[in-house]
Amino acid sequence: MIPFVIKHRCNPRGKINVPGDKSIAHRALLISALARGTTQIKNFPEHDDSLATLNALLALGVKISTKHNCVSVYGKSRHGLCKPQKSLFVNNSGATLRLLLGILSGQNFKTKINTGKYLRLRPMSRVNIPLRLMGALIAARKKGSQEYPPLEINGNKLKGITYSVPVASAQVKSAILLAGLMACGKTRVMEKIATRDHTERMLKAYGADIKIKKNEIILNPQAQLTSPGEIYIPGDISSAAFFIVWTVISSNAQVNIESVSLNPGRLGLIHVLKRMQAKIKLIPVKNAATKNGEPCGNIIVNSSRLKATVINAQEVPSLIDELPVLMVAACFAQGKTVIKSVGELRVKETDRINSMLTNLKRMQADIRVIKTGRREDIVIHGPCALRGARLKSFGDHRTAMSIVVAALAADGQSQIDDLSCVNKSFPGFLATLKSLAKI
Ligand code: S3P
Repeated sequence: MIPFVIKHRCNPRGKINVPGDKSIAHRALLISALARGTTQIKNFPEHDDSLATLNALLALGVKISTKHNCVSVYGKSRHGLCKPQKSLFVNNSGATLRLLLGILSGQNFKTKINTGKYLRLRPMSRVNIPLRLMGALIAARKKGSQEYPPLEINGNKLKGITYSVPVASAQVKSAILLAGLMACGKTRVMEKIATRDHTERMLKAYGADIKIKKNEIILNPQAQLTSPGEIYIPGDISSAAFFIVWTVISSNAQVNIESVSLNPGRLGLIHVLKRMQAKIKLIPVKNAATKNGEPCGNIIVNSSRLKATVINAQEVPSLIDELPVLMVAACFAQGKTVIKSVGELRVKETDRINSMLTNLKRMQADIRVIKTGRREDIVIHGPCALRGARLKSFGDHRTAMSIVVAALAADGQSQIDDLSCVNKSFPGFLATLKSLAKI
């Protein structure tokens, strides 16, 4: 491991693109494989997580070819996947694993799935429970009352269910909907708080019979899935988030980020930062050629003087992946910022409450967790002059990129133990950073 050193504060200026959206990439691959016809997926992000889905599909007998950042998937239709020769390995991609579980539950063969060391520690009962109600035969490693990878799935005949998802999770919702494609009868999924709707949009684009009524999604599996021929994946707002925060907390900075997904279910960070007085402009591109109903546009960000705010539980799913970098922004805001109900951060690639508190405290931030029963809130008092320090990524891509942003706006030198984990979602992170400032 070569530590990465940031010697001093740097202010970003310029124009960038970020990789294609990770969540959309998984769905584009999986749903194209289940459809009839060939799909060209443009602006496909070649990072560890989307490649985990691509490799799993290859092992399941799907023909896929890649040219530059365009991937062609030759659809097999819903029951055309083949038994893999050996166990699937999905690396540390939670979305690959949970979404695939939905699909594999309804096939007519057995699949074993192994994972990398970080995903081995992530809970699976949340997805196994509803899939079993549909008839899925899933065996998992058990520890206490929770289940974890590795998993073994014995394909079975599934039936549609009506299910209210107890934890706000787009992965769980999507696994149920994908299983619903293979099931007999309708599937209804209810959400207490809406989560990202990329699966619903993508299924519609492929001709599925899917209806959305307020907090309820109804899928009738009878319609065939047919490829729209081409899909364009807009840039990932979760990757843009690091540059957005770096810009607002720096002086004399301006960054334009082009062609980013502006899906309303992913704009929580933008709404919260604007409430904190951040100077951010969204410029939607009308009729963007995404072909899968995903809004897209450019984002212009300027240096800002932030004010503290309160982020409530209802907002959390729309910025779940941006919470680590939002904690960094809150250190620069005047007053007390409270981020409510952040418990889900404990079960991401690492425990992100622990990883961010450890690092930001080392930088002298005034940050703590307040527990009320099972609820956990984060409280940050600002503004506080962050000091350079020895920092740790904990092997987690979003912790790593968030602490790089903190270090770029801090006084003095910081050293980060290992940044190789950024390849999970953003292999070009450092190159993009260097294109905006001399670091
Ligand atoms: C994702 C959903 C979220 C998010 C993850 C990607 C998805 O996870 O944190 O990075 O693509 O559906 P949960 O469903 O566990 O909240």
